[in-house]
Amino acid sequence: MLQTQITAQQLYDKLKDIKLGGQGCVYSLKKCEELVPIINEINDLKEEKNAVILAHSYISPEIIYGVSDFVGDSYKLSRDALTTQASTIVFVAVRFMGETAKILNPEKEVLIPAKLDGCSLADSINPATVQELRRQYPGYTFVCYINTTAQVKALCDVTVTSANAYKVVGKIPNDKIYFLPDKFMGQNLKNYIDRHGIKKDIRYYSGTCYVHEEYDIEDILKVRLEYPDAKIVSHPECNTTVIDHSDFVGSTEQMLSYMRETSTKQFLMLTECGLSSRLQSEFPDKQLVGSCTLCKYMKSNSLQDILRVLKNPLPKDRVVFDEQTRLRALKTIEAMFHYAES
Ligand code: 13P
Ligand code: SF4
Repeated sequence: MLQTQITAQQLYDKLKDIKLGGQGCVYSLKKCEELVPIINEINDLKEEKNAVILAHSYISPEIIYGVSDFVGDSYKLSRDALTTQASTIVFVAVRFMGETAKILNPEKEVLIPAKLDGCSLADSINPATVQELRRQYPGYTFVCYINTTAQVKALCDVTVTSANAYKVVGKIPNDKIYFLPDKFMGQNLKNYIDRHGIKKDIRYYSGTCYVHEEYDIEDILKVRLEYPDAKIVSHPECNTTVIDHSDFVGSTEQMLSYMRETSTKQFLMLTECGLSSRLQSEFPDKQLVGSCTLCKYMKSNSLQDILRVLKNPLPKDRVVFDEQTRLRALKTIEAMFHYAES
């Protein structure tokens, strides 16, 4: 978001209202003074190396407000990756998001600073399983969530994100759909399609996100009792009962827009803590009730590792895959853009 040198006071103004987001997510002016030298070293290097930083909303606030050029959900970031003129993209998130940027920009260097670059959804399914499912379900359109590896995408037909899954699946001209890997999103998708009178046979795989599967109806009932005016905002990776009792369901970016636009002041946000931090920083008049959960994969990104990959990337930090995989995966992402934007 900030592309030039910043002062400790400017950083503190962005971070001072953040009270959630894991250990260490309370920022004093002194802490900002300690962070600013490395932040400005990264910002100088970005200019020198013609690099941009894309950061998912779940990332630690000092990264989002100190060094990132683009912030958002996986759909927005995939669009941003397409528009940048920079020759290097540092993707501060998890590996599958960096892979999406590389699929769309084969000529650019894409670097991933995350120490733990997995994701419980992307790790829940492998190419051999997809091939077996395709044998079991002939005639089905295979729809993969963006939280999958490039190799898994290459074996599917259409990619979707949490921002467009319902719309895209509704438009696919086949009434047989196999969705993978998230079972809750698959069930939520099926319920949505059924409720809207669209006739489709939707099957889905058994993966889960370890962050979102933790939430249950008790979290909502407790808040409804204590804060009757609060709105419940949840991510479609939550289970069906949570979704059915929520006031709004959407991608992380759509959740933020909903909270920005509604006049309500109190929210229970059923997603990763990074989004709570964005709300607190950008809309300090809104109050969060209840707690949030951390994603260890997203939170394994640090300013130190961003600086390291910009200065001296190791082979493991670079996204590379063969051209055949890239082209096949690209077709599924282009199909998503086609259905999502038509
Ligand atoms: P969004 O696309 O909504 O940002 O979701 C990505 C994700 O990993 C949620 O857990
Ligand atoms: Fe993956 Fe869940 Fe983390 Fe999102 S929150 S990156 S789905 S493990």
